[in-house]
Amino acid sequence: MPQATYHFPRGFLWGTATAAHQVEGNNTNNQWWQWEQTGHTNGTSGLAADWWGGRWREDFDRAAETDQNAHRLSVEWSRIQPTPDTWDEDALERYRLMLRGLRERGMTAMVTLHHFTDPLWLFEMNGWEREEVVGLFEKFVRKTVEALKEYCTLWCTINEPNVYTLSGYVMGDFPTKQRGMNLGMQVMANMLRGHAAAYRAIHQIQPEARVGYALHYRPMVAKHPRFPLDALMRKLRYDGLNMAFPSGIGTGVMKTPVGNFQVPEARGTQDYLGLNYYSVDTVSFHLGKPRELFTSSGYPEDADTSEQRFIANIPAGLFDTLKWAVRTYPDLPILITENGVNDSSDDLRRRYLAQHIHQVWRAVNFNWPVKGYFHWTLVDNFEWERGWTQRFGLWGLEVETQKRIKRPSVDLYAEICKENGLSSEMVQKYCPEVFARLFPV
Ligand code: BGC
Repeated sequence: MPQATYHFPRGFLWGTATAAHQVEGNNTNNQWWQWEQTGHTNGTSGLAADWWGGRWREDFDRAAETDQNAHRLSVEWSRIQPTPDTWDEDALERYRLMLRGLRERGMTAMVTLHHFTDPLWLFEMNGWEREEVVGLFEKFVRKTVEALKEYCTLWCTINEPNVYTLSGYVMGDFPTKQRGMNLGMQVMANMLRGHAAAYRAIHQIQPEARVGYALHYRPMVAKHPRFPLDALMRKLRYDGLNMAFPSGIGTGVMKTPVGNFQVPEARGTQDYLGLNYYSVDTVSFHLGKPRELFTSSGYPEDADTSEQRFIANIPAGLFDTLKWAVRTYPDLPILITENGVNDSSDDLRRRYLAQHIHQVWRAVNFNWPVKGYFHWTLVDNFEWERGWTQRFGLWGLEVETQKRIKRPSVDLYAEICKENGLSSEMVQKYCPEVFARLFPV
């Protein structure tokens, strides 16, 4: 049996990613809380993982004790700016404490400034649909970065603007007051403007900052590549989901399926590319899916899928994602800002983790500038419209008692982080079923 270790470069960031609304609990002043109370989600966020009550301390301990050297978290706009004219200094102090907590544990902090939630006051005025949001977001970013800059130099302006837009304005799963593709793309254009304004503001406040955003990127294949409608649907979906925002950042013109948006100030506004990768979509034309714009997307029948077939374990897709990134932005550092799987039994997660990290190693071995990997997520959290029906945590969570349950993947990931690599022994121990694939003879 071969014995080997796939090593990573020194200084590689190993961590997990979280988002404020999904872990803090009692986030009553944003549009998601309201959406939950009106029956749009599978359960409500409630106390979540009770980070606002202080349990971030024990969870950061867990992360540090298992050799993670970085953590990506988000701050909640509605806590920091509860009304348009007030700042909550206590909330900012709480975030300073959390970031200091990371530093004390020897962990690098990455802060996301917008992760799907908007203050209710902003939502009431139609939020990102109006261009006024750009100045408002910049104001919030300035205040927050000023307050937190002592503890953070790695900033993510907006998480998955493509998912925020499409899950809301096209699919109707995320809270919006109105729907429609054109409106959705308008919102995405405003997010691009907001991102660009935030990028400049952060650099003004902190010249050494590294600023980017997190793109949800999904490689896609047509179900029947020779069937023109499948190929067309694949292209439309691919362009709409994956390419719109990056095209705006690359050229200053955001190209979307409903037309081009001129956002010249966005050109070149990223110091790294943040990539959230989960799976590869198989896309086909489907007359019965008007809500999805006549597109059906799924996974091959024999795919290694998670509960509810939500995610298919297709590790090569992560390599393809990284390949796309280096070809599109040669030399730009890359961070994998999210990657993970819903798996309450922790059966799939172990091989998903090992196989995906193996793909990252392949990329690193080509000298592609991948600088870190953030697993989604540290402890089970509130999964938006899917509520508590999906468990993405390395640690499980009993929501009622707030008890954390250690899953075997915790130890696998700890060994990877400690070794700064993936070894044959680890694979043999935690997921022998993929050994021959990862260490072929
Ligand atoms: C989001 C996370 C979410 C994860 C898993 C990503 O698209 O950024 O907030 O929890 O997917 O569903």
